Amino acid sequence: MSSILITNISRLVNTRTATTLLRGKELSILPCIENAFLLIRDGSIENYGVMESLDQQSADQVFDARGRMLMPAWCDSHTHLVFAASREEEFIDKIKGLSYAEIAAKGGGILNSARRLNEMEAGDLEEKAWIRLLDLIRSGTGAIEIKSGYGLSVEGELKMLRVIRNLKKRSPIPIKASFLGAHAYPLEFINDHKAYLKLIVDEMLPAIAKEGLADYIDVFCEKGFFSNEETEILLKEGKKYGLDAKIHANQLSSSGAVETAVKAGAISVDHLETMDENAIRSLSGSDTIGTLLPGAAFFLRMNYPPAREMINANAAIALASDMNPGSCPSGNMNLVVALACIQCRMLPEEAINAATINGAWAMGLQEELGSITIGKKANLILTKPMDTLCAIPYFFGTNPVEKVMINGEFF
Ligand code: NIG
Ligand code: FE
Repeated sequence: MSSILITNISRLVNTRTATTLLRGKELSILPCIENAFLLIRDGSIENYGVMESLDQQSADQVFDARGRMLMPAWCDSHTHLVFAASREEEFIDKIKGLSYAEIAAKGGGILNSARRLNEMEAGDLEEKAWIRLLDLIRSGTGAIEIKSGYGLSVEGELKMLRVIRNLKKRSPIPIKASFLGAHAYPLEFINDHKAYLKLIVDEMLPAIAKEGLADYIDVFCEKGFFSNEETEILLKEGKKYGLDAKIHANQLSSSGAVETAVKAGAISVDHLETMDENAIRSLSGSDTIGTLLPGAAFFLRMNYPPAREMINANAAIALASDMNPGSCPSGNMNLVVALACIQCRMLPEEAINAATINGAWAMGLQEELGSITIGKKANLILTKPMDTLCAIPYFFGTNPVEKVMINGEFF
């Protein structure tokens, strides 16, 4: 039994007894307690309240947080953290004017990453991802989803998902795995989509299910990648193995991906840079979470997702990083929250809710993480001294995190 009492917290952020998914107006309500204490026992939140109500709770350790805020760690529900190599040469191509789709069409992009990943030993991949993971935890991430999708072969996809499984075992924070075999068509299948779909359905999915390697199935539903019909087929097949869907939708074009994913009951549709009225209506009338990845829009110089329109239409919105070597090489959620406020006009309260409790929902972790709730895991961010929560997005690019606590221990 070990306990730690944190006292004099200037503001304890996102305190909730009920942890429902937040949609529309609810996103702007961020419950906080000023001048608070928090008691942690064996890695979980045992009690919290205003300092005046602290009746000499004894603890093994007392930490005085004076002047600092304490909040739930970020729940990053969309990353591609496992990859072999960065793609700096494409970064230069993009500076010179090539688009993401043009780079992909000439065999760069995802296929470039797949080539490099298939050449690399699993152990090396794991070590690279492990270093990235530790770095993200230090920047405030307390739960993360990681996708496959750079294997694009039976062996390659299994290798990636086994790396993610090993990371799950080693990691102090929860990790969810998504199978993204339908990320791009490998060159040898470029003229025979049916055969690649068959490979996913007949070989990849059964092998993945047999080892229990995935929590979710993902598809890059996009012109030039996987069509709506192909996505529908794959989601049905995934469901047979109990895999819920998290879909890359409406990133480069508005082609019905959101509607397809919502119809299939997806847990989330992610990206949403190119939403039209039908897509917004479909999303806001559903339980599917719209996960915005403003870091990708920033890096690709694209329009940002219309967060205001979606929130006004009563959609449930989450924020995630999309950390990957092609469209968002940063996994820093502090920056994601800042971009959401500055570029997508989300209020700081909305952005913080979207990056904590709703991010937890987008990974099925809402009972464990994402808010200050009795019984939840103590994965927390202690901020630097600051006057308001607004300082997090306002001082964008500066690190608001003084300390990170994972499972009740300073990391
Ligand atoms: O979420 N859009 C598709 N997939 C990733 C990018 C992957 C890559 O370029 O390597 C994304 O942006
Ligand atoms: Fe992605």
